[in-house]
Amino acid sequence: MTQNTMKALAKSKPEEGLWMVDAPVPEIGPDEVLIRIHKTGICGTDIHIWNWDEWAAATVPVPMITGHEFAGVIVEMGRNVTGLSLGQRCSGEGHLIGSDSRQSRAGNFHLDPGTRGIGVNEQGAFAQYLKLPAFNVVPLPDDIPDEIGAILDPLGNAVHTALSFNLLGEDVLITGAGPIGIMAAAVARHAGARNVVLTDINADRLALAEHVVPTLRCVDVTKEDLNDVIHALGLSEGFDVGLEMSGNQVALDQMIEALVMGGKIAMLGIPPGQSPVNWSRIVFKAITIKGVYGREMFETWYKMIAMLQNGLDVSRVITHRFNVTDFATGFAEMKSGRSGKVVLDWT
Ligand SMILES: NC(=O)c1ccc[n+]([C@@H]2O[C@H](COP(=O)([O-])OP(=O)(O)OC[C@H]3O[C@@H](n4cnc5c(N)ncnc54)[C@H](O)[C@@H]3O)[C@@H](O)[C@H]2O)c1
Ligand SMILES: [Zn+2]
Repeated sequence: MTQNTMKALAKSKPEEGLWMVDAPVPEIGPDEVLIRIHKTGICGTDIHIWNWDEWAAATVPVPMITGHEFAGVIVEMGRNVTGLSLGQRCSGEGHLIGSDSRQSRAGNFHLDPGTRGIGVNEQGAFAQYLKLPAFNVVPLPDDIPDEIGAILDPLGNAVHTALSFNLLGEDVLITGAGPIGIMAAAVARHAGARNVVLTDINADRLALAEHVVPTLRCVDVTKEDLNDVIHALGLSEGFDVGLEMSGNQVALDQMIEALVMGGKIAMLGIPPGQSPVNWSRIVFKAITIKGVYGREMFETWYKMIAMLQNGLDVSRVITHRFNVTDFATGFAEMKSGRSGKVVLDWT
């Protein structure tokens, strides 16, 4: 590397905002690679960090280069790295794990209690260069463009959640039509669900969902009663599987009511603080609830790339593209609550 400094988008002061800074190009260790970043996606997490809310202030040390959704190309490799090559296009898993915990040693890398996130606990991907353990690199096939590579992290959340339970021939309810809920709906369709119903309270988000996955039944729960939809679809007992992707208590309550006896819920949405839950309803309906965190390393990555190569199309969930110099506009679009994914170009 001849270049010593790089542009990066960082939380440099403990207050609202992010700032474009000059930062040192990271030095890699023997098991790491250096990635020249091409595209990055803005995540809800980045909005929390921008806003410097209670969670961000308690979690993120300053200064911190933010961002964890990326695609780029390998430009330098540590001496122990095998199986990768310079010039390889890649995305990568932003959860950094250790190898000592019981879960890691059992091969359940995504359950390592010592997980640290790039752009949250470690310097992140909103930069010209990113240092990443070679273990975390996911090579991109030629038929997956950089901008899709830059949203594989949230697509992976959607895939991990959607594939938690068998969806073939099942009736699926998804609550929350944010970018991840919309992508989960596309995955549920691809995975052979019979009916896929997606709810939200934001008409713009539901319109986007219909644009991305035309075969969905979208429901604005401020205007339509979910029970009427259940009857209209002829689901005599309700939905078989629920994917909770809103983080909203009302949506979870609605989901519990709308499920069949013995129904299953995969829960990705993060409710703020503690929320009351009608446990007896869950017990008497014999409902299984699975919490979902991140992506399975690396089965989720394998499956999502395979599905993308076999007709899964989430490209229309990207609604805005900006040069990174216009990052403030990109963040404003995300904060509006109307956008899908916003992708920044670093080339
Ligand atoms: N567990 C994890 O590893 C993980 C990773 C990423 C994101 N998340 C969480 O997953 C969720 C989805 O992420 P996202 O980026 O798509 O979020 P988002 O905030 O863009 O989308 C959430 C959607 O839920 C909708 N909503 C609010 N109240 C609702 C209700 N009563 N019924 C139906 N919909 C309602 C909102 O209008 C919004 O469109 C968020 O809660 C996020 O924090 C979890
Ligand atoms: Zn993310």
